[in-house]
Amino acid sequence: MLIVNIKQIAGITDGGTGCLSGGEMLTGMGTMDDAWILLRDGLIHSFGSMSEMPQVGSDDVVDARGGMVLPAFCDSHTHIVYAGSRHGEFIDKINGLSYEDIARRGGGILNSADLLARTSEDELYAQARLRAEEMMAKGTGAMEIKSGYGLSTSAELKMLRVIARLKEDLPAKVCATFLGAHAVGRSYAGRQSEYVEMLVSEMLPAVASEGLADFVDVFCDQGFFTVNETARILEAAAKYGMRPKIHANELAVSGGVQVGVRYGAVSVDHLERMGAEEISILKDSTTIPTMLPGASFFLGMPYAPAREAIAAGLPVALASDYNPGSSPSGDMRMVMALGCIKMRLLPTEALAAITVNGAAAMDLRPRYGSIFPGAVANLLLTVAVPSLDFIPYAYTSPFIRRVILQGKYI
Ligand code: NIG
Ligand code: FE
Repeated sequence: MLIVNIKQIAGITDGGTGCLSGGEMLTGMGTMDDAWILLRDGLIHSFGSMSEMPQVGSDDVVDARGGMVLPAFCDSHTHIVYAGSRHGEFIDKINGLSYEDIARRGGGILNSADLLARTSEDELYAQARLRAEEMMAKGTGAMEIKSGYGLSTSAELKMLRVIARLKEDLPAKVCATFLGAHAVGRSYAGRQSEYVEMLVSEMLPAVASEGLADFVDVFCDQGFFTVNETARILEAAAKYGMRPKIHANELAVSGGVQVGVRYGAVSVDHLERMGAEEISILKDSTTIPTMLPGASFFLGMPYAPAREAIAAGLPVALASDYNPGSSPSGDMRMVMALGCIKMRLLPTEALAAITVNGAAAMDLRPRYGSIFPGAVANLLLTVAVPSLDFIPYAYTSPFIRRVILQGKYI
């Protein structure tokens, strides 16, 4: 496929770039105006200026008609394998209950676990696939998907097998994360430490023996799992080669950042309650702080301190957290807009946060998340827009003309 008359290609890096940190989030991705791009065998082959058009014989020439080409979005934190929805709790929230109130009443994650237990693997796959297709249509080309609504060995395996099928079937790149420590399963109510022991001695070996997880996650937060429990799980998972990507500091200053960094986490996610101490610990690590502004928006929580993290020289990734309880949306353009409007990222920084840094938060660099010859051809072709800034600014106007994954239209 040869795309011509592109107003601007944005999100260009050289092939060796990992994540973009601090000031690099503004300067590290290049642009090229008035350009063409050639895709071959699912990869980006070459690109250049329209004034130097190569004579390539392509029978598939697309006129961008003044649209932009961007890297497809990389959503490094989602929970899209779930059954049904939790719109009843939406009303409870409007009526004043907090996320923790709902969880304490036995709703929340346990409500989704009950629904999931009654749903067949095929039905779960069908529901998750629809969500993944919606995400791809909105521009996502790589996504991480977590388990964590099973909370028993068989139901966690059911979720992870659904994720494995999505990996096989979707044109988007999919990574799988085992989140058995999302909440204590109902049959272990009041026996949290026994649940953790069962997770380590039964769930983890079963997940590992089927090769179902790339990463391990723990909800390390007030009312959920403690730092010591998190350490126990991360240590056990390390023996199976699962690196952590953990939920930390959403509800309280939980110690989650510290324990994540200690076990070499690829990312620590949420961070709504992160302060100077956590930022300085992250500075001495390769762990990527990942912020989820959709959850702040939906639950009315503070937004994570993205500007402070960037000022300290950290790489910030933004992700959707698509899940039924705290962020029922996988729209990364909305995440970009919230990053700009609520966290004061410049549009170029927000683009880096949802592409190259999102890919790094899934350990997918350099093949995903930016544009260079040899990268996987996961791209968006936009409608005619005046500039990148317009995309988070006019945040509900349709902006995608075509989504291209592995070099093909979806
Ligand atoms: O990232 N915080 C923990 N887990 C999810 C919410 C899960 C749910 O409520 O179903 C989150 O916000
Ligand atoms: Fe989450």
